[in-house]
Amino acid sequence: MHDDCSVITKLILSAAEDARKETSGEAESPYTQKVEWPVSCTVGPGLEGAIACESSVGYVNGSKGLLIYRGYDIFDLCAHSTFEEVSYLLLHGNLPTAEQLETYQQKLVSYRYVPKTMRVLMGFPIEELNTMAALRLGTLFLRQKKTLIDQEAARPDIESAIGSDEDSIPMEIAPYGEPHAIYEFKRKASTAQADDAASPESCYHLISGVATIAAAIRRIRDGNMPIEPDPDLSHAGNFLYMLTGRRPTPVEERVMDIALILHADHGMNASTFACMVVASTLSDIYSSVDAGIGALNGPLHGGANELALRTLRSIGGVGNVKGWFEQARASKQKIMGFGHRVYKAYDPRARVLGPLSRHLAEGNPDIQPLFETARALECEVASTLGVEKKIFPNVDFFSGLVYTSMGIPPELFTPVFAVSRVSGWTARVLEYLENNRIFRPRAMYVGPFGKKYVPLEGRSDDEADEG
Ligand code: SDX
Repeated sequence: MHDDCSVITKLILSAAEDARKETSGEAESPYTQKVEWPVSCTVGPGLEGAIACESSVGYVNGSKGLLIYRGYDIFDLCAHSTFEEVSYLLLHGNLPTAEQLETYQQKLVSYRYVPKTMRVLMGFPIEELNTMAALRLGTLFLRQKKTLIDQEAARPDIESAIGSDEDSIPMEIAPYGEPHAIYEFKRKASTAQADDAASPESCYHLISGVATIAAAIRRIRDGNMPIEPDPDLSHAGNFLYMLTGRRPTPVEERVMDIALILHADHGMNASTFACMVVASTLSDIYSSVDAGIGALNGPLHGGANELALRTLRSIGGVGNVKGWFEQARASKQKIMGFGHRVYKAYDPRARVLGPLSRHLAEGNPDIQPLFETARALECEVASTLGVEKKIFPNVDFFSGLVYTSMGIPPELFTPVFAVSRVSGWTARVLEYLENNRIFRPRAMYVGPFGKKYVPLEGRSDDEADEG
């Protein structure tokens, strides 16, 4: 490993040590046992606290500031693994052997090339579109086989399986007319075709294709042609190369790889849940990921790193931090990059991205002052809101500094998040389809009953006001 990269590994292992020291006394979370359905749980608005399913893909312990993927601690994966290994782990449940990794890497490389999608994408005014809207568009067109030719001939034989397209996993269907048709997923062990259909090829296609599309969106917005993928670079290295137009340094490639590992999965966050809801209707995996990108486009979920960077720039230096923070507190302003629905300790991802941003800022006159401002703000918040309300930096506080150091513009920060999270989204969709049940919660009706219909001519404003 390149000397500079071994420095990065040391930074991560030291951050892991600090984390374990600070949170070793915290209680374990109760969300780690098998579910006996139906389960009773205390549910708040926005399904806060609701148990939607069981999962082995990943686990977040908010009080301990712990994040694990398939049992592996995030600090260990960042220190020793790669995005290729980690995305394979999320999808398949085990770290790949050398042979499995080789095969998987070859598939990812082959799926980097999406010329037909590029041709369609470039027919749209991408430079006028929000980058996440453009990413959704491109992702939709990745599903070439059916998006453009939804013809009768292509429809699945309803008697044999109900895959909304050959990318989906064939489902045994309950006989029509059953009052509660529950589509059970049954892997057909025998035929090769079934194995093909059940294998997560479309997930590999999305993991690789979405990265190519995100990079192309940056290039097209800048008035340049998309860059042809380089088959000899790693996933992170090739993504950075297509995004910036130059081959990354070993440190940049390693940091990008770590950033992709950190953002890969995070429990039942809004975008992951959106993907699973779409998949539970037996729609296709491309529409699921499209839904995830749409959810991530909301400022309460994605984009806080862009706003956090803007905050750091607007503060204008370490000397202004205290005054700025006091004003923000007085006006109960939400500080971007801080707080989390689950974490009531430091987000472990911030514990890794903080030292990485410090390392990249060293000697960089543009970033160094911003990093110092970030550090000062972090101390102010952690020593006040952190104590009073357990509000600490989250994944978005330092990531903008890391990406800026590598030449990635702010409008691409959230697409970069999506490029990584496609692995967690698809892994959780595949897992959920193993025992699918369409998501269908209830709403509590609080409206009126017994209203009498009034013809149009008899209606008056106060009737309308009564509502
Ligand atoms: C991500 O779910 C996931 O896992 C998401 C994610 C992932 O990997 O998928 O982790 C990615 O979304 C990270 C979060 C990025 N967003 C931001 O950084 C935006 C700023 N953060 C806040 O909007 C907020 O912290 C949320 C939305 C992240 C969480 O909000 P909650 O859990 O709904 O908390 P809340 O709004 O109910 O606030 C509770 C209290 C309030 O004070 P009181 O009214 O009780 O006095 O905490 C305060 C809030 O005002 N508070 C903050 C704050 N966040 C909460 N005060 C100042 N700054 C903040 N950032």
